[in-house]
Amino acid sequence: MKAVILAGGTGSRLFPTTYVINKHLLPIYNKPMIYYPLSLVMLVRIREVVFVVNHEDIPLYKKLFGEGEELGMKIMYAVQEKPLGLAHALLSTEKYINQDSVCLVLGDNIFFGHGIAEILFQAKGDVEKNGGAYVFGYFVNDPERYGVVEFDSEGKVISIEEKPKNPKSNFAVVGLYFYDNTVFEKAKKIKPSWRGELEITSVNEEYLKEGKLKVKLLGRGFAWFDAGTHDSFLEAGEFVATIEKKTGLMIGCIEEIAYRNGWISKQKLEEIAKRLSKTDYGEYLARILKE
Ligand code: DAU
Repeated sequence: MKAVILAGGTGSRLFPTTYVINKHLLPIYNKPMIYYPLSLVMLVRIREVVFVVNHEDIPLYKKLFGEGEELGMKIMYAVQEKPLGLAHALLSTEKYINQDSVCLVLGDNIFFGHGIAEILFQAKGDVEKNGGAYVFGYFVNDPERYGVVEFDSEGKVISIEEKPKNPKSNFAVVGLYFYDNTVFEKAKKIKPSWRGELEITSVNEEYLKEGKLKVKLLGRGFAWFDAGTHDSFLEAGEFVATIEKKTGLMIGCIEEIAYRNGWISKQKLEEIAKRLSKTDYGEYLARILKE
């Protein structure tokens, strides 16, 4: 399985800040937003990642991640010429994914919770073995902001709708999806929504029609942020700061995960820690090295 992380779009909900800087490069507390979704795919041991970016941002992402050599990964970049929706963005990665299955993550989504890696591992394994799609639901106060999933009394999914005016449940579909390779065929088949975008929800509906959509609910023990608005951006930063200060452990530290996964050597981590010395981030890496 390969991962696709979406870092395109206009970031219009964060204007004027995002007039000149890509949203996913803004800091959530002490690291760029994009580190968080990347760290998640690393936790499920996906080593090949395609970032979908706007044309003008390619040099910035390359400066940050190169081709993944610092993380022992393979990082590729696909350009989305216009922000025509999440399914459209996914289509721009087809030639990199080839015949593989896909883990799609939205670049502004941040997850935290004990056991999250195990849950995602299970979903990844299921899609690799049995095909179909796997998505996750999370109880929210404001479902009209998201994709919303409806269940019958036996917990079977009966509908999935994008930003409905009258949501049929409080379960939002979070921005992390596992798909078999038929996702490309499905994304080519769907039509733009009323807002002119190729919605990922329409792709999920195609899986639902085929009886191949699995939805797992993430319970109260998990935190999920879609950091695409001023309030949620701030909340996500405060949350990360609180947890990190309390535990002394970082959330979304990609070099730490690469090292613990055995993808980079101790020497490499030392080199990175040295480069970042005199920063809290560098000190944290130096601490990991002493373990
Ligand atoms: O956060 C979860 C929600 O994300 C889901 O519940 C919705 O079903 C899903 O449609 C999506 O809704 P948003 O309105 O929050 O999507 P947004 O336009 O913010 O885009 C999500 C990410 O994808 C963001 O990091 C920017 C990137 N993006 C977006 C578009 C429209 C692209 O890379 N290309 C695009 O064309």
